[in-house]
Amino acid sequence: MLELSELHQETRTEEAVAWHRKDLLDTDCLSPAEIELVMETAAAMDEVRSRPVGKVATLRGCTVVTLFYEQSTRTRASFEVAAKAMGADVVNMTASGSSVEKGESLIDTVRTLEAIGADVVVMRHGRSGAPYLAARNTSASIVNGGDGTHAHPTQALLDLYTMRRHVGDLAGKKVVIVGDILHSRVARSNIWTLMAQGAEVVLCGPATLLPRTLAATGERGSCTVTTNFDDAVEGADVVMALRMQKERQQGGLIASIRDYIRGYQLNSARLDRARPGALVMHPGPMNEGIEIAPEVAHGLASVIEEQVSNGVSVRMAVLYLLTAGRRAHAA
Ligand code: CP
Repeated sequence: MLELSELHQETRTEEAVAWHRKDLLDTDCLSPAEIELVMETAAAMDEVRSRPVGKVATLRGCTVVTLFYEQSTRTRASFEVAAKAMGADVVNMTASGSSVEKGESLIDTVRTLEAIGADVVVMRHGRSGAPYLAARNTSASIVNGGDGTHAHPTQALLDLYTMRRHVGDLAGKKVVIVGDILHSRVARSNIWTLMAQGAEVVLCGPATLLPRTLAATGERGSCTVTTNFDDAVEGADVVMALRMQKERQQGGLIASIRDYIRGYQLNSARLDRARPGALVMHPGPMNEGIEIAPEVAHGLASVIEEQVSNGVSVRMAVLYLLTAGRRAHAA
């Protein structure tokens, strides 16, 4: 197995960009150089995973806790696999069955986890901003695994990693994100990383699920909003469908599911309007037959399963940078 010094050597960039952050709470605070460092480190992790052993001992002695107040399959499992692939000890906790059910506060919970030796706490919480409160109250690193409707930084980073592997430089590329933008922490975190790369982001959905305040022009990229999916998908390089988040919706935001499917489902006819070879993405979990047609979800253009696999490499990179990478750069 590779040791820290070898891996660190492999993940050094030409300009030796340093990682100083204790926490990863969203993508909006990351500089383009930091995003690049995550991408380069994830590529090194991909290489590690492709080896026969597929593991390194870099995080031996490190304890990673996954603390999930909401359901998850991909984020929780991939962080666990990522941490174990680098030799960390992993403790998985959900709110149900923990002392949270007896009324323990978030602050007391993270302090308790720190007291038992947690170096990193990966947390998902239904309240937007909860990981920020946790980060201010512990010296353990906090990774936001999704907070309310606010942010999901590692999803955006793995989405970016996946896009770059297929599309290359995203400057000037059209990325359409369609669906329930209003409740989507994935869309919010993606806007920042994609605009930093110079992409033209188009957010699309019914007016009731489309906050117009998200429209922006950045130093490089741009973000526009539209309710017309057929126009939006024209010439797109990437089309990302989002899950209809029934659990976060108050009634009445869409006329009916049938109406929603008619206007916003990513189906073959719509995909034909995109650029030939356009990527189909979805952060998961999918409601097949609602926001995405099964033949598109599992078609040749789909990289949805690759997104999940890339999530392991990107999460290995994030865990590495927040712990051993940060210490190595500080030395
Ligand atoms: N994309 C995503 O966050 O999936 P999970 O809810 O399964 O973690």
